[in-house]
Amino acid sequence: MSTILEIRDLKKSYDGGFEALKGVNLSIEEGEIIALLGPNGAGKTTLISAICGIVMPTSGSVSVGGHDIGTDFRAARTLIGLVPQEVALEPFEKVINTVRFSRGLFGKRGDDALIETILKRLSLWDKRNNQIKELSGGMKRRVLIAKALAHEPRVLFLDEPTAGVDVELRKDMWDIVADLKADGVTIILTTHYIEEAEAIADRIGVIAKGEILLVEDKDALMLRMGKKELEVQLSAPLDALPASLQSDTVRLGPDGSSLIYTYDTRAERTGITKLLSDVAAEGLVLRDVVTRQSSLEDIFVTLVKEDAA
Ligand SMILES: Nc1ncnc2c1ncn2[C@@H]1O[C@H](COP(=O)(O)OP(=O)(O)OP(=O)(O)O)[C@@H](O)[C@H]1O
Ligand SMILES: [Mg+2]
Repeated sequence: MSTILEIRDLKKSYDGGFEALKGVNLSIEEGEIIALLGPNGAGKTTLISAICGIVMPTSGSVSVGGHDIGTDFRAARTLIGLVPQEVALEPFEKVINTVRFSRGLFGKRGDDALIETILKRLSLWDKRNNQIKELSGGMKRRVLIAKALAHEPRVLFLDEPTAGVDVELRKDMWDIVADLKADGVTIILTTHYIEEAEAIADRIGVIAKGEILLVEDKDALMLRMGKKELEVQLSAPLDALPASLQSDTVRLGPDGSSLIYTYDTRAERTGITKLLSDVAAEGLVLRDVVTRQSSLEDIFVTLVKEDAA
């Protein structure tokens, strides 16, 4: 695989001095899907905007398909499709014309067969002659995708494509992304939904306060995040963990009234049966059993805390 997008030490300070990007380095391989996760205000949209030429970087470099965005912007930008976070469409324009116009903006010859394919793929063909203002919110999001695809980009940025859309449309979007990947399009998306990243991304990047905290293969990351905790609440507190229960994965809860067992949800055997039989053999009486899984927010909080420390 070859590198299609290379970001080196990219910094952005907004007017007034706020440093939204603090030296971002990221290489993206042709054909991969990378999900950028990060809390509100992390700098995800700023990063995408800088790559797409909407925001002027303060320093650093970005090249797309070997074209530097500073010195060779037009060539770089032609390779890029952008689905922005905010819906900004001309309300009185017809769907089909909006999409045709986007292609024209890149100086590409009209191609109604392609526009038809795109609109059909996005289930917008029936609405092609409707004005934008006659569409639902989810349909408008699809129009944004159709517009971004109209000039046949090789790299597609999707900035929170499924924020506020229903489950069905979200799944549709995932299928569309999978189709585009099959066509060899490289996809960079931001999302606040972990299931979304899990469903479609090859790699996950976590960004907070303008810095990339982690870039990791999804499967490796999911394995780490797949950890679950089982809290066995006891009817009487313990002073210490009984010898028979001692292991790396079992610890005593804060006030001794529970046992906390960490296990991997992806393992074939979780070890819960054995734990419960060991607990019974020890003569301990259970009051309740609770399971917890670390959420994306938990992971962010942990990462961001570590970052601040
Ligand atoms: N035009 C601007 N002028 C000044 N500050 C800005 C501007 N645009 C963004 N910022 C600031 O830069 C930081 C990063 O914003 P950005 O929109 O990139 O975050 P984000 O990660 O996309 O967040 P969200 O998940 O909410 O979309 C924020 O603190 C924001 O207030
Ligand atoms: Mg954003």
